[in-house]
Amino acid sequence: MLDELPLILDRGADQPLSVQVAEGLRAAASSGLLRADDRLPSSRSLAQRLGVSRTVVAAAYDQLHAEGWIASRRGSGTYLTTAPTEAPARPSPRATAEHPPELLDLGPGAPCIEAIDQAAWRRAWRAAADDSPIVRKDRGGEPDYRAAVAEHLLRHRGLGAGSTTVVLATAGTSSAVVEFASALLRPGDTIAMEDPGYQRAAGAFLAAGVRVVPVPIDADGLRVDRLPDGIKAVYCTPAHQFPLGTRMQASRRVQLVEFARRAGILIIEDDYDGELRYDTAPLPLLAAMAPDVVVHLGTTSKIFSPTLGIGWLVAAPDITEAVVAHRERTGTGPSPAGQRVLAEFARHGDLARHLRRLRRTVAPRRALVVDELRRRGLEVLGDDAGSHVVVPLASAEAEQQAVTAGRARGVELDGLARHHLVVQQHPLARASGPHTFGIALGYTALNWPDLTAAVSIAADCIGRS
Ligand SMILES: Cc1ncc(COP(=O)(O)O)c(C=O)c1O
Repeated sequence: MLDELPLILDRGADQPLSVQVAEGLRAAASSGLLRADDRLPSSRSLAQRLGVSRTVVAAAYDQLHAEGWIASRRGSGTYLTTAPTEAPARPSPRATAEHPPELLDLGPGAPCIEAIDQAAWRRAWRAAADDSPIVRKDRGGEPDYRAAVAEHLLRHRGLGAGSTTVVLATAGTSSAVVEFASALLRPGDTIAMEDPGYQRAAGAFLAAGVRVVPVPIDADGLRVDRLPDGIKAVYCTPAHQFPLGTRMQASRRVQLVEFARRAGILIIEDDYDGELRYDTAPLPLLAAMAPDVVVHLGTTSKIFSPTLGIGWLVAAPDITEAVVAHRERTGTGPSPAGQRVLAEFARHGDLARHLRRLRRTVAPRRALVVDELRRRGLEVLGDDAGSHVVVPLASAEAEQQAVTAGRARGVELDGLARHHLVVQQHPLARASGPHTFGIALGYTALNWPDLTAAVSIAADCIGRS
């Protein structure tokens, strides 16, 4: 790296060359290109590279030496001792306008990193790195990964994928929605989705030029009777409605599948956190009931981390072929690296162990939050599942008040307002149901003491709204 230091000398400038060299090195240290303990090139080799005499570089080094930034170590060369104090401070990653550094974020959606067995994680990454790089990636995904996902779906989600359907690797749910929209829909087509719902999925459809119509939810799930004619697909989260946390009841599932078959449309089943149930067994997946009309999407974003960047899509072969053809046309497709890691994790039984450990870690966190909220007389919505709960509120004003009060006391709260679709003016868009107001509280991101403190403050702020 040091050989590539961007030292540019201006031979026509008034400033002596030695001063320019010293300044260039100071600037490299200020910007972080050079760090404490980095070894500098010898004066001879730097002089050669810059095309100056050795005395120029020696004079620059003498100057920096006198200023205390570099030091010689006998027999091993010259080192940077410390970066200059005037180096610009790097902003802390949380210190943005949205997240002042002291805010404890209780929003939903984060994975529970604490539950990951670090030794197993490192083992999987090391084993994945042992495979040599491949020349041409399989656009459907790595065979070992696809096999591991099929096994996972069978063991943990009761879905036998692979006989009438095909498992594809994806780069996660949002990316799979973009691919689905690009490969199987046309700009101007319309899809329906639950409202409130996952706005990143809505954003993915909208980015592909697809119109999105909101459909209300009741206690049984998506209101199939409110689905408009003329749509091409319906997107939903049947196992654990996002964000309300309820499950789609069996009769509603049957109704939805019948609607899809009758209307000749597809159902996109987003099973984003189906592995996280703490009480009863989940209902059968829509993909298991109706593989002919369901495109099933899964992700590792909740069970590991979104930074792994992998997920899966299970659907009938004509659909998966269209997605792979789209990847071929556009030269895109998920990266094999994360797929190899998950395949390695699964190979040694670590995936099943991890899911058990994850449930054991998250269930008491959920209990802590639910107990505290109920103790304060607050209503808690949502099944005993997933990584968040919802406390309903009576109005948009109450929701906003709670969010503002939370912020003032150092806790970031997530109002349901941002999970509603901004209704587009479209002939198919019937009026959505009344908006649901409330706060979604995630319990997987913070450590236990922070979670305890944040939930108590949240309960206060919500209770007063
Ligand atoms: C409803 C829903 N679907 C999917 C995802 C995950 O999406 P991705 O795989 O793109 O990270 C999330 C993550 O927060 C989610 O809340």
